[in-house]
Amino acid sequence: SLLPATAVAHPNIALVKYWGKRDEHLMLPCADSVSMTLDVYPTTTTVQLRPDATNDVVIMDGRFLRGESSQRVTRFLDLVRTQADSRDRVLVDSRNTAPVGVGLASSSAGFAALALAASKAFQLSLDHRALSRLARRGSGSAARSVFGGFVHWHAGTDYAPDPDFASYAEPVTDTRLDLALLAVLLDTAPKPVSSREAMRRTMTTSPAFHRWLAATRTDTALMRGALRAGDVQAVGEIAERNAMGMHAAMEAAVPPVVYRTSASHHVLRQVRRLRAAGERMWATMDAGPNVKVLCLPGDAARLADQLRRLSHRPVLVARSGPGATLHRGE
Ligand code: DP6
Repeated sequence: SLLPATAVAHPNIALVKYWGKRDEHLMLPCADSVSMTLDVYPTTTTVQLRPDATNDVVIMDGRFLRGESSQRVTRFLDLVRTQADSRDRVLVDSRNTAPVGVGLASSSAGFAALALAASKAFQLSLDHRALSRLARRGSGSAARSVFGGFVHWHAGTDYAPDPDFASYAEPVTDTRLDLALLAVLLDTAPKPVSSREAMRRTMTTSPAFHRWLAATRTDTALMRGALRAGDVQAVGEIAERNAMGMHAAMEAAVPPVVYRTSASHHVLRQVRRLRAAGERMWATMDAGPNVKVLCLPGDAARLADQLRRLSHRPVLVARSGPGATLHRGE
C-alpha cells in the first residue's frame, strides 16, 4: 500500500542524563537514563513511499532539508528499508511547533515520530520495544520519546548476544508521582557544538567524565526508587546533581564544552535561593543554555511567575505527556 503514515511524538526531559556513547554506529549509551515525556511541542511527521523515485525528499517545517541533516534522515531510513527489505524512497514531511532555540524541540520527538511513521509506511509491525530501538538509531534520546510519562532507557550490555537488542526504553509504571517542568527560555543562539561531538570530547578528554558516569550508574537506581516512593525531593535532588555533574564534566573537557552562560548561572542561583526559602524546585539543563526546573504541578504556575519576575525571560510550563502515536485516518 502507498498510503502515507503520520505519527506524533513529544520531546522528553532527562532526570538522569544520557551523555556518552559506547558505540556511535549502533547508538549504544554508556549508561542507563531516566526521563519524563512532556506535553508540549509535538513533532508531527508524515512518511509517504515514492517507489519510482531515486532519492528521499525531506521537508522540515516547510523547507527542504539538504546536506548533513537530510543525510542523517536518509541513513536512518536505510535502517527501516533494510528491515522492510525495500528499496523505496520516501517523502518525509515533518513539523515541529516549538519556537527555534527553545531547547526542547530536540531530536527526541523528531526521530520518535519518524521511526513510527516510517515503520508504518513500510508496513513493518514493530512492537514498542523494537520501535524504541529503531528510534534510538536516529538519536539516542528518541528511544525514550516512544513512551509517555516516566521512561527508563536501558544501556544494555556488550555481553548480550546482540547488544542492539539489549538497549531500549520502557515506561516506568511503578510511580504515581506527577511532575511539572518549567523552562526558562534564555537564548536562541545555535549550539556551539553538536551533542555527538560534545559527548565524544567529554568522554575522551574530561577527567571528570568517569566519575560522573559512575555516579550516573548509581543515580538510575536511586531515581527509580525515588519515583516508586513518590519522593519529589529525592527525585529533584538526584536530577539536579546528575545534570550539574554532567555540565561540570563537559566544562572540564579539552577544549571545554560550555553550554551554561552567565544568564544560566543567574537563574541557577535564583533556583537555589528560592529553594533555601522553602520552595520545592530543582534545576536541570541539557545541551543548551536554558535552565529547566522540576516541581510539583500545584506549584508550577506560582514558581513560573517568580522565575519570570526574577529573570525577565519567558517561562514555559510543561506537564507529563503521551508516547508516540499514529494519526488516524491516513
Ligand atoms: C543532554 O539524544 O540529542 O539532552 O544521540 O547524539 O542524537 P544523539 O544525542 P541526543 O542527546 C541528548 C543529550 C541530553 C541528555 C538526555 O536527553 O539524556
